[in-house]
Amino acid sequence: MAAFDGRRALVTGAAGGIGQAITRMLRAQGARVAVADRMLTDIVADAHLPGDLRDASYADGLPKAAHDALGGLDIVVNNAGVIIRGPVSETTDDDWDISLAVNLEGPFRICRAAIPLMAATGNGAIVNVASCWGLRPGPNHAVYCMTKAALASLTQCMGMDHAHQGIRINAVCPNEVNTPMLRTGFEKRGFDPDTAVAELGKTVPLGRIAEPEDIAEVVLFLASDAARYMVGALVEVNGGKAVQ
Ligand SMILES: NC(=O)c1ccc[n+]([C@@H]2O[C@H](COP(=O)([O-])OP(=O)(O)OC[C@H]3O[C@@H](n4cnc5c(N)ncnc54)[C@H](O)[C@@H]3O)[C@@H](O)[C@H]2O)c1
Repeated sequence: MAAFDGRRALVTGAAGGIGQAITRMLRAQGARVAVADRMLTDIVADAHLPGDLRDASYADGLPKAAHDALGGLDIVVNNAGVIIRGPVSETTDDDWDISLAVNLEGPFRICRAAIPLMAATGNGAIVNVASCWGLRPGPNHAVYCMTKAALASLTQCMGMDHAHQGIRINAVCPNEVNTPMLRTGFEKRGFDPDTAVAELGKTVPLGRIAEPEDIAEVVLFLASDAARYMVGALVEVNGGKAVQ
């Protein structure tokens, strides 16, 4: 029997680098997965729930939509995210609004709607994708770091508050991962992404930055029964590289 046989999962940001890996690996291990993102054209899944997380009613409705499409909801992965670069002095109102809406308000709304659905069965796991940069400050990404710090804190609080309902809420905190988020950042700054990723890998004690699957494995662990005694944990997945 596969680890996630019979489990029903909602994954946000499912069209992105880490989201695709999570979706593929959950399905390979028996889960049925509802995917959410702005565009989901080529994503193989059991239900497609496209939309923009900045739309509060969409975020509020996602867990129920996944629940109805899959016949229940056991796992939620709040993985969607945006990264806005720059110090506060260069942060626009739009930068602020989108960062808060996608990285923090979306997960808040989705958790708030998912918790009662999961409490009804007394069995659920929520995994939030935060960041090492939310645990310690990284340079020139002030609002991004703040949103991930807030998501980490929310995870710890919700973990405590909802454990008695049989719901485990934890977070993974990656450092750099080889995904479109990182690569487009290099492109925008005029660097060749392959060269930049290889150079960045030299700064990691393990010798390379993470691939999406390295992060997805830990998400799956936290969502699985193997993590049955973990609640409110912030699991750093960083190849040995601290935030510098
Ligand atoms: N790549 C890294 O180095 C890194 C490091 C630490 C944490 N993270 C976190 O990992 C998560 C996944 O990131 P990734 O690296 O796979 O990036 P990615 O850009 O490949 O994927 C992010 C996904 O979120 C979706 N998304 C963004 N805004 C949305 C909105 N308004 N509505 C719906 N969906 C929206 C995007 O469409 C995209 O598919 C994010 O939360 C990110 O902050 C990434």
